Amino acid sequence: MGEPMLQGKTVVLGVSGGIAVYKAVELLRLLTKSGAQVHVIMTKNAQEFVTPLTFQTLSGNPVHTDLFSLYQEQEIGHISLADQADLFVLAPATANLIGKIAHGLADDLLTTSVMATKAPVLVVPAMNSNMYENPLYQRNEKLLAEAGYRIMEPVTGELACGWQGKGKLPEPEQILGVATGVLLPNDLLGCQILVTAGPTREEIDPVRYLTNYSSGKMGFAIAQAAAARGAAVTLVSGPTNLQVPNGVKCVPVISAEQMREAVLANYSVTDVVVKAAAVADYRPACREDNKIKKAADELTLSLEKNSDILSELGAQKGERILVGFAAETERLLTHAAEKLQRKNLDMVVANDVTSTGAGFDVDTNIVRFLFADGCVEELGLMTKAQVANQLLDRVVTLRQAKQQ
Ligand code: PMT
Repeated sequence: MGEPMLQGKTVVLGVSGGIAVYKAVELLRLLTKSGAQVHVIMTKNAQEFVTPLTFQTLSGNPVHTDLFSLYQEQEIGHISLADQADLFVLAPATANLIGKIAHGLADDLLTTSVMATKAPVLVVPAMNSNMYENPLYQRNEKLLAEAGYRIMEPVTGELACGWQGKGKLPEPEQILGVATGVLLPNDLLGCQILVTAGPTREEIDPVRYLTNYSSGKMGFAIAQAAAARGAAVTLVSGPTNLQVPNGVKCVPVISAEQMREAVLANYSVTDVVVKAAAVADYRPACREDNKIKKAADELTLSLEKNSDILSELGAQKGERILVGFAAETERLLTHAAEKLQRKNLDMVVANDVTSTGAGFDVDTNIVRFLFADGCVEELGLMTKAQVANQLLDRVVTLRQAKQQ
């Protein structure tokens, strides 16, 4: 499936000494799998539970342990770690670590870096339940929350010391979920987005069809990014080899006519439509029931026009935002502008599919955004995930303008 969700994000994982350190190893694995660049800082006590080598091997980056290590400072200084971070995650965060941060103490690499960062800090405490309930601890945690640190409450269960109570580190998947929510904007929360992706297949006979080179990558990247930004996403997709992104409802279709039906069935509850699919403009006028046999030297296929789904949507647009794509091989802007107007769109994403790194079945794209007010924006070569987020940034702006 497309680009990982946290691609381009830098996370500093601060690990302090508690039995739950083993879960931080799994969290690191999940963060790197999601595409984040992770730098681990371990306190001295954390190293009593798991060696830095484990974190180093899984993160692919040197683990930072020592404030006064000349070598580590030369490789990447603690201030530069604090600067580079998009997010600090402190997991597990001990009562000691939280107490020190709450009182502005910076006597080791982790506390110094936390103090020096302007990035959001997600604190995930884990400790014995009596320690957790201790009013001194509670006061420190409150101080952190008041200072803008995000606290992810520990869960109740059997603790390592055999006690039953509140103090367990939440599961790594849950921590990843909260961390992702902090890292990615939630600016499409409450918005219903319908995305189309992939090619359509127009059957000639039981063994043959007409189609195009669309892989679905562009549309899937948009669906994934929209879901990550809080939208409720329905993805109507022609045949692809891609995995449906988490949290996305997928309606698989084959032909343009099936895509039309699925899109229209969902249209009434949709706020935004993004049509990245490469829909066949024509289908065989007659689909043969049996395989066409080789006979004459020439065979003429008669084609009939498919309905233009996007034009239909444009004709009953209401307050919705409609975004179309234009895949062109010549006169890119002229054709794209014509589609924008004819289909009653708010925005068209124009890609010159003859350019290297753009268009069908590649992980990147080179696009221009055309808007109904005549504005044109040119974007350079970027991954399809980046194009998706740029597109959604514009959708957010268009929505704000409409709501005013
Ligand atoms: O899937 P990938 O391999 O990642 O490739 C991405 C892509 C090149 C397919 C994508 O970026 C793209 O350009 N998609 C639109 C391709 C296209 O068919 O454009 P078009 O100019 O034929 O159609 C214009 C718009 O009308 C499109 O939004 C299309 O979805 C829509 N349309 C077209 C025909 C039709 N019968 N109904 C439609 O709704």
